[in-house]
This record gives sequence, C-alpha cells and structure tokens, in this order.
Amino acid sequence: MSKIDEETLQHLREAAVAAAGNAYAPYSKFYVGAALLFDDGSMVTGCNVENMSYGLTSCAERNALFRAISEGGAGRRIRAIAVANRNGAASPPCGACRQVMSEFVTADAVVTFPGKSGPETMRFAEIFPCSFRLEERP
Ligand code: THU
Repeated sequence: MSKIDEETLQHLREAAVAAAGNAYAPYSKFYVGAALLFDDGSMVTGCNVENMSYGLTSCAERNALFRAISEGGAGRRIRAIAVANRNGAASPPCGACRQVMSEFVTADAVVTFPGKSGPETMRFAEIFPCSFRLEERP
C-alpha cells in the first residue's frame, strides 16, 4: 500500500483536535481526541470519556476504534492513527490503547501524536514492537 502523505496526516491530526472538543474530562481536565484512517479510506474519530469512578475512564483511541467496529464491523484495517489533545502537552497513545489497536493495524500503519516539540510520527510497529498474541492451543 502507498505511503501516507503529510497532507493526509495533517487532515487526520485536525480531525483528532476537533474530536478532543467533545472530550468528557472533568476530572483530569486532559482533553484527548483520536482519528483513525482505515484501509478503505474512511475515517473515524473518538474522544476520552471519564467517569467519577476514575477507573472506568475510556481513552480517545479506544473509543474511536470501538465506534468504528460498532458502526462498520471489524473488517477494516487501520493505516494511520492521529492523537491530539487540547492541553498543549505531549501525548503518545497509552499502552492499553496500543495493545487494542495492534489487533487492527496494517503492517505499515503509522501513529502521529503531539511530541515535546511538535508532531511526531512513528510506525506502529516501532512504538509497540511486542504485542500480546493469543497462540493457537492444541
Ligand atoms: N487518555 C486518552 O484518552 N488517551 C491516551 O492515550 C492517554 C490518556 C485520557 C484518559 C484520561 O481521561 C485522561 O487522558 C488523563 O489520563
């Protein structure tokens, strides 16, 4: 599959910023958005949704993925993930989201996220090289 160009990544980042505008984060006040680009060209966004129990909080990246599957099934594969926040902070995707995404990414998927000094873009395989895989059992 062809490499994703910078313009597409920028469009994805902007969609993630917009999604962060819907974040429900009254406890941390950290407003996160995510945008996923799939191999059929479709895009799905999500935001973090917190809960006063704290532990039931759900991240923007997983909410985007679960929304995508709920609305379109599990056949699509993620080619690019953009994460954004409205706090001006660095925010790579958390480990739990990386594990969940790992089951749905293409081999060459990329992740773009706010780094310490501007956007950083890495291959998914680079930020999450050793995902858990359930082996076939006899
Ligand atoms: N959060 C995300 O939405 N995505 C991440 O990858 C890391 C953290 C949210 C969870 C919580 O609502 C807030 O950011 C602070 O941790």
